Amino acid sequence: MGKLVALVLLGVGLSLVGEMFSAFRERMSASREVEPVEPENCRLIEELENGSEDIDILPSGLAFISSGLKYPGLPNFAPDEPGKIFLMDLNEQNPRAQALEISGGFDKELFNPHGISIFIDKDHTVYLYVVNHPHMKSTVEIFKFEEQQRSLVYLKTIKHELLKSVNDIVVLGPEQFYATRDHYFTNSFLSLFEMILDLRWTYVLFYSPREVKVVAKGFCSANGITVSADQKYVYVAELLAHKIHVYEKHANWTLTPLKSLDFNTLVDNISVDPETGDLWVGCHPNGMKVFFYDSENPPASEVLQIQNILTEEPKVTQVYAENGTVLQGSTVASVYKGKLLIGTVFHKALYCEL
Ligand SMILES: *[C@@H]1O[C@H](CO)[C@@H](O)[C@H](O)[C@H]1NC(C)=O
Ligand SMILES: *[C@@H]1O[C@H](CO)[C@@H](O)[C@H](O)[C@H]1NC(C)=O
Ligand SMILES: *[C@@H]1O[C@H](CO)[C@@H](O)[C@H](O)[C@H]1NC(C)=O
Ligand SMILES: *[C@@H]1O[C@H](CO)[C@@H](O)[C@H](O)[C@H]1NC(C)=O
Repeated sequence: MGKLVALVLLGVGLSLVGEMFSAFRERMSASREVEPVEPENCRLIEELENGSEDIDILPSGLAFISSGLKYPGLPNFAPDEPGKIFLMDLNEQNPRAQALEISGGFDKELFNPHGISIFIDKDHTVYLYVVNHPHMKSTVEIFKFEEQQRSLVYLKTIKHELLKSVNDIVVLGPEQFYATRDHYFTNSFLSLFEMILDLRWTYVLFYSPREVKVVAKGFCSANGITVSADQKYVYVAELLAHKIHVYEKHANWTLTPLKSLDFNTLVDNISVDPETGDLWVGCHPNGMKVFFYDSENPPASEVLQIQNILTEEPKVTQVYAENGTVLQGSTVASVYKGKLLIGTVFHKALYCEL
């Protein structure tokens, strides 16, 4: 009798583990393959081969691109090279990317840039806020952009005990921003368990020098974050839940959930077209291939455009999809006047004319 009970318990235990893993495979959208979709005029950007994780574009058409992210558990093709910020002028006929010089006593050797966000103040001075992971910690670096010199001047570093495992930020005022935390454990082994067990311990933070608070929580990897063109709504991509959440933003910076959209892909970063208000989302159709990289069977890329997100029936269009032969692991897509830039975690970057 005792043996029978033990056997039954073992069976139940194994089937629970089995279910947990199949739920994990589902979250990683492990078996999805893509059919190719491509705008007509696309080319790879020569100067970017080792990552282009985040892109933000100035109203004048100058695009900032963060490159060289080192992230636990993800590949990096140039592990000895520090990260860089590239600039690309989308007004040019045939734009090229150029690494920006950084002055002002910044430790460039430890630069490990992740999410970036532009802030333009009342005097039209342009600041670039960059999530940095020196020694795998999380800080937010503030730079002033010198357009004439095409360089960044380092101003200051923001650190806070709640600013941990930061993925992305969106800056809305001087030293005022929302930030996402994408995993709870900093140890890569524990953070894998966090994904397998679906712990949902990550959050969205509001930071200002006077007040720091969690404004939304319970995410299974909160990833990209951005605001609507009118700054009334905040959009958060929940990578492993395949969801984009829409929040109403209040004057006191709290967020009220409005709606969530479901996708059949891991949604990474969101950008908003300032002209139309459409969302552009860099996605991973097969997350397993990003986290367990094999150059023979690389991760695919996918870009979705979402129109009319606030209405009953938002329109979702797959603008780009490719099996990884050209572009691996797309994270972000940004548009400027009919031009599209697609960035990746650790691979190349694509420039398209729509
Ligand atoms: C990317 O990294 C590889 C390996 O370190 C290096 O050979 C190559 O020049 C890098 N490419 C660019 C465009 O920096
Ligand atoms: C996501 O995109 C926004 C808008 O382009 C940018 O500000 C942000 O830094 C990006 N974040 C990441 C982690 O790619
Ligand atoms: C923030 O503002 C919202 C909307 O006005 C209000 O409902 C909420 O109670 C406020 N929260 C705090 C903590 O002040
Ligand atoms: C990816 O697509 C290309 C072109 O459509 C095709 O030649 C190649 O065999 C595909 N690779 C895989 C791994 O499916």
